[in-house]
Amino acid sequence: MEPNNCKKRNLKIQRLKTVDSTNTYLKALAEQGGEEGLIVIADEQTLGRGRRGKSFFSPSETGLYMSILIRPEFSVEDSLFITSMTAVAVAKAIENVSKRKCGIKWVNDIYVDQKKVSGILCEGSFDYKANKTNYVIVGIGVNISTPEGGFPDDIKCIATGLDSGDIKEALISNISEEFFRLYDALPSHKYMEEYRERSIVIGERICVIGERSFECTAIDIDEKCQLLVKDDSGNLNTLSSGEISIKFAR
Ligand code: BTN
Repeated sequence: MEPNNCKKRNLKIQRLKTVDSTNTYLKALAEQGGEEGLIVIADEQTLGRGRRGKSFFSPSETGLYMSILIRPEFSVEDSLFITSMTAVAVAKAIENVSKRKCGIKWVNDIYVDQKKVSGILCEGSFDYKANKTNYVIVGIGVNISTPEGGFPDDIKCIATGLDSGDIKEALISNISEEFFRLYDALPSHKYMEEYRERSIVIGERICVIGERSFECTAIDIDEKCQLLVKDDSGNLNTLSSGEISIKFAR
């Protein structure tokens, strides 16, 4: 049964055999006036994109490559939380369908057994003067199974497949459901409780990767999804974005 505070939505799914990137494709549709709830799913991507200009390995048969168009009515500031909110939605959906326990590596990677199974790339168009979000494309990639021959050398140490059978269709409907349920309630930021519970970084030794890379300990994640870290001299730092790697004691 649908909770009262959820909007009834008319989701339209467009399926493609192959595309450069579902995010790029859906962005063009958004610019042409595409409506909230339009979803594009491709069997494979030839130029799958990740965060920070990286590529996202997107072979056919083994992955889910999905982009969702939304037109949020809340503030631009709240739109910035869509990424972390999506991480919670995807983690829950993967768990519902595959029964594998999912953790979130700040900001928005989904991990199973200390390896990445899913990444999220949100791209938006904003009118900062009017404090208005024109649209956001929420791109979600999931490694449903390990490709024959394994993952490419550059990601084989960190990537893994769910390897839980033929779960693609169930995953699509679960992700859509969990995503829109959290999206409707996003301004309350209630999802942050679940985000923190699923965090695999709090209390861990991490390396902050950037212009100045440094090792530190992740102390906490605050209400704005900022990561609080303490370096080895005891200095506290608050990171609002960026990339980290976790130094798992394997
Ligand atoms: C990351 O891990 O850095 C983010 C990966 C996001 C991949 C998804 S797959 C569907 C959508 N289309 C893309 O080109 N990227 C996102």
